[in-house]
Amino acid sequence: MAEVDYLIANWITTNLPYIIGSLLVIWLVKVKSADLRQRWFAFLMHQLTKEKDAKVEEVKKDLFTSLGSIVSHDPELRKDNAIKILEIGVGTGVNFSHYPSGSHLMVVEPNPHFVKYYNDNRKKFPNIRSEEILITTGEKMDEVPDNSVDVVVMTLVLCSVSETEKILQQILRVLVPGWH
Ligand SMILES: C[S@@+](CC[C@H](N)C(=O)[O-])C[C@H]1O[C@@H](n2cnc3c(N)ncnc32)[C@H](O)[C@@H]1O
Repeated sequence: MAEVDYLIANWITTNLPYIIGSLLVIWLVKVKSADLRQRWFAFLMHQLTKEKDAKVEEVKKDLFTSLGSIVSHDPELRKDNAIKILEIGVGTGVNFSHYPSGSHLMVVEPNPHFVKYYNDNRKKFPNIRSEEILITTGEKMDEVPDNSVDVVVMTLVLCSVSETEKILQQILRVLVPGWH
């Protein structure tokens, strides 16, 4: 038994550099392939959302119309007839055209490869006071303060989320009281 233990210990000591090297390669491949997947997905969404689908836009127009009648909780924003919106999973930023002029927009997005597409899009809408993307998920958006936004928007996001209950809890946390 002692001889077996000795042989195993000896084998591990001799091959330690190879074991560590192999683990490092596996880790790198894992990290890089996740990054490549995210990059590819952002590029794909950018290509798919360049042209707007008329039917989707019609539905959105209907849904987003109600934003125009919301009165902000924030007295400063109220003076300008503006509201504060949080968009979760903003992607390339396809909803700018549906936001009321003057809106303050915070955005959350876990995939950092969307940043450049979102930034290109936000430049086209100087009437919306959009912020930089917060790189995080809807489940972990702790940077968004409690009771701080008038509206939360998500389009085509929940289908990619495994912990939907956590996102919904976060939405309740950040929405100003009185709206839920
Ligand atoms: C199909 S895309 C939709 C993008 C955009 N909302 C739209 O309507 O074009 C799904 C988006 O949800 C994001 N997403 C995935 N899981 C998320 C999570 N847990 N929290 C926030 N966003 C998430 C993805 O990175 C991606 O930007």
